[in-house]
Amino acid sequence: MNFDFTEEQLMIRDAARDFAQRELLQDVIERDNNAIFPTKHVKTMAELGFLGMMVDPKYGGAGMDSISYVLAMEEISKADASAAVIMSVNNSLVCYGISKYCNDAQKEKYLAPLATGEKIGAFLLSEPEAGSDATHQHTTAEDKGDYYLVNGTKNWITSANSASIYIVIAQTHPDKKHRGINAFLIEKDTPGISLGQHEDKMGMRSSDTHSVMFTDVKIPKENRIGEDGFGFKFAMKVLEAGRIGIAAQALGLASGAMERSIQYSKERKAFGTEIANHQSIAFKLADMAVKVENARNLCLKAAWLKDNGKPFALASSMAKQYAADIAMEVTTEAVQIHGGYGYVKEYHVERLMREAKLTQIYEGTSEIQKIVISRTLLRD
Ligand code: CAA
Repeated sequence: MNFDFTEEQLMIRDAARDFAQRELLQDVIERDNNAIFPTKHVKTMAELGFLGMMVDPKYGGAGMDSISYVLAMEEISKADASAAVIMSVNNSLVCYGISKYCNDAQKEKYLAPLATGEKIGAFLLSEPEAGSDATHQHTTAEDKGDYYLVNGTKNWITSANSASIYIVIAQTHPDKKHRGINAFLIEKDTPGISLGQHEDKMGMRSSDTHSVMFTDVKIPKENRIGEDGFGFKFAMKVLEAGRIGIAAQALGLASGAMERSIQYSKERKAFGTEIANHQSIAFKLADMAVKVENARNLCLKAAWLKDNGKPFALASSMAKQYAADIAMEVTTEAVQIHGGYGYVKEYHVERLMREAKLTQIYEGTSEIQKIVISRTLLRD
């Protein structure tokens, strides 16, 4: 593994940093307070090529690598993790899933508008009774000959309202359990689809999260992804890639909180000197730096394995679990270093702490990542 970035990777990181600091950061507190979707910023991310970063240019994508994706996700997440999760779901769940597993006709129809950001996508796996336990899908997709009939409810869906294209996981053959599950491309305006209320979340407040209800929704046969019964494996494979994006998001939350803590502790004075001169603060900064560096290396290693066509499931789960857990630790310490100022919105670190919590929960909790990691160790 080469620890030097290429010119192109550095340019992408700098473009993401510039956009995040100059644009996203300006109105992030207002969007967080009022749970406002970042419409204009999503448009700029599309223009920058950040919504279809790894998609083949033939389908309108930017043709970048996963290392660049990690670098960009880190920078965007430092400023606004809600914008980052919209970007992550579109890139590494929806676009990746379609690029890797859909046929040419499906790619022609759905991939280009998603990769250019003309439309955005959502990934509908979780259900009221199937979050971590994803094999137990209650949403059904009955095979009716020349179409499927979908019924059920999906929960906690990122971009449910703003997305136009859904990837939906549903059970077709209950007797076959997870081997009877299918994945479908479904357009949001298909009759029979309705949304639950906007979830009033603790963090990532400006990404739009809803439940989605399906009532006798007719889906053409050609919208099934892969062979009959491929849906659960499809979901697991897509999540392997998705976890790199969320790991990089958690990394950005941690590194953003660390950078703010370094800056603040060089400016704030107490007991006659800048607080950075107190060992109790300096040691906290050192601990943060080690954790951030470890998380960054895990994220980049997972991305490097993926870019080089090597198995990356273990690495992406390690990166996701570690980065999410240290994001929670580092952002909590950042609030502590900022003292009372850390507890008010103007200094951003309380928001980073609220946002970090979600990285330990979605795209597989930290406990789920430990299941994936330990099973791999015990199997090999
Ligand atoms: N690749 C391919 N196949 C896989 C796989 C993988 N990574 N992981 C599991 N499978 C296969 C297994 O081989 C098995 O198939 P066979 O029986 O045919 O051999 C089948 O799937 C079932 O596997 P397990 O017996 O291991 O299933 P399990 O129920 O014990 O555990 C789990 C599976 C890993 C816990 C899984 O349920 C899981 O990952 N849960 C978390 C779900 C999740 O991450 N949800 C996130 C929702 S998306 C989201 O959050 C997006 C957002 O908004 C940000």
